[in-house]
Amino acid sequence: MTAKLTVLISGGGSNLAALLNACERGELNARITRVIADRDCSGKAHALTRDIPFHLIERKLPDFAERLADAVPKDTDLIILAGFLSLFPAAIVDKFPKKIINLHPSLLPAYGGVGMYGLHVHKAVIAAGEHESGCTVHYVDHGMDTGQIIAQARIPVLPDDDAATLQARLAPVEHETLVRTVAHLLNESSISQKGKPC
Ligand code: GRF
Repeated sequence: MTAKLTVLISGGGSNLAALLNACERGELNARITRVIADRDCSGKAHALTRDIPFHLIERKLPDFAERLADAVPKDTDLIILAGFLSLFPAAIVDKFPKKIINLHPSLLPAYGGVGMYGLHVHKAVIAAGEHESGCTVHYVDHGMDTGQIIAQARIPVLPDDDAATLQARLAPVEHETLVRTVAHLLNESSISQKGKPC
């Protein structure tokens, strides 16, 4: 059975592209059936060029949570927050237990929570003099970056790294970690029988 994925984005969508490529190459026995963004972003092109239904739900709308709930297909097997910057509404979290995951660009629980996104994370890691950073895939709960950790990958922080170089070196590691974790979760839940184990 081919799993149905919903992917939420706010930015460039390189992780969305990695998931799409993995589906196209058969590494994931899955189809991305909907892409949702909370702001206009360049990542939408990955959905539009492949005719994947794309919904833009502006995060500032008063009924953002309700619209988002309506936009998520009821039959989705996994909801993937891949660079989605809005707090995911608690009501939707409750509707999809253990079916919503988030990718975060640090080794959680370090460098998570309010204000910890994008370059802010990498700046904080470097300012603290860390020798190691990485990414985390975790289940989404009612908090921000607080859900149960599913997978992490580590990279060294190099002496001459700045936030941009650290971010750039982490990006391919994030892509690989996200795809591998999605494959693992689909296998584990028997939704799909074809992905590689974690
Ligand atoms: C990634 O660094 C991810 O960890 C974070 O947002 C970034 C998304 O990048 N949550 P992209 O939009 O997939 O290129």
